[in-house]
Amino acid sequence: MKFHFAPVQGHTDAPYRHYHHKVYGNDLTYYTPFIRLEEGKLRKRDIKDFTSSLNSEAINIPQIIFRDEKELVALVDLMKQQEVTRLDLNMGCPFPLQTGHGRGAATVANESLAKAVKKIITDNQDINFSVKIRLGMTAPDEWQVLLPYLNDTHISHLAVHPRVARQQYSGELYLDQFNDILTQSVNPVVYNGEIHTPQDVQRISSLFPNIEGIMVGRGLLGRPSLINEVTSGNEWPREKRLETMLKFHQQLLNHYTEELCGDSQIISKIKPFWEYAEDEIGRKAWKAIKKAGNIAKYHSAVALITQQ
Ligand SMILES: Cc1cc2nc3c(=O)[nH]c(=O)nc-3n(C[C@H](O)[C@H](O)[C@H](O)COP(=O)(O)O)c2cc1C
Repeated sequence: MKFHFAPVQGHTDAPYRHYHHKVYGNDLTYYTPFIRLEEGKLRKRDIKDFTSSLNSEAINIPQIIFRDEKELVALVDLMKQQEVTRLDLNMGCPFPLQTGHGRGAATVANESLAKAVKKIITDNQDINFSVKIRLGMTAPDEWQVLLPYLNDTHISHLAVHPRVARQQYSGELYLDQFNDILTQSVNPVVYNGEIHTPQDVQRISSLFPNIEGIMVGRGLLGRPSLINEVTSGNEWPREKRLETMLKFHQQLLNHYTEELCGDSQIISKIKPFWEYAEDEIGRKAWKAIKKAGNIAKYHSAVALITQQ
């Protein structure tokens, strides 16, 4: 079973990925949050993220988002100029700002784009492509438009979050549709969605023994040791999980303190670290962290984590 750390915009940037790998040292595959064209070019901050020297130790795959063949071709060309050898195609983002322009989940049922996706993958054998999808925008069987085209080419895997865009990030998971994709895909399939505990990993692995891997987003942000616990076969006691998470947090905070200017910049970069960790660190600390308006209050709030 292969494990993937799902890209999460605003969280899994290069420093986060690097220090996660440094502290937890597992063989997860990491992804950049989606990279898009702006006025026909790559944004400087996206280039900085995927070319950062912080990416050198783990597997880091850049991800692009596009709305039509023109954008797709332009992005792939620009990424080739940056000498990328692996590329993930975002065909699942549900943010209305992206889907409203025809990107992300809005691409799943776009047949002319599906043809272009197949062509670009087939024409660029020097790049190892993967694709990340949702089931569709509103109907959970929209993927049926895209899948035959992916089946006609070779990708390293197809990661599937079995929801539609309308649901955003909550609600029913269409596991029956996921199973249909798993059965019909000639390419390896990776499951993604609502994995929070080692038991969730076990449940999905036994429900779908033919998956190639599991991709975890919010579950790993809230419990960064999750995959270590799964691969070692031992659930870590809460004290060990918190102690290690605090070590990870400290390294990331040191990095931001060196890189950024001023407490407010540092606080706004580090606070999201805890966004999905309420269950892990307790409500009191979590609320205090959210409220902290300066660095001294932030440190006191973080100290509450081990006092509870
Ligand atoms: C705030 C936020 C930002 C996200 N950004 C991205 C992104 O840049 N690219 C992407 O493919 N998915 C993105 N996702 C989706 C996640 O990668 C993942 O598919 C989703 O959270 C479901 O998995 P999970 O239940 O394990 O979190 C984002 C999700 C959230 C909540």
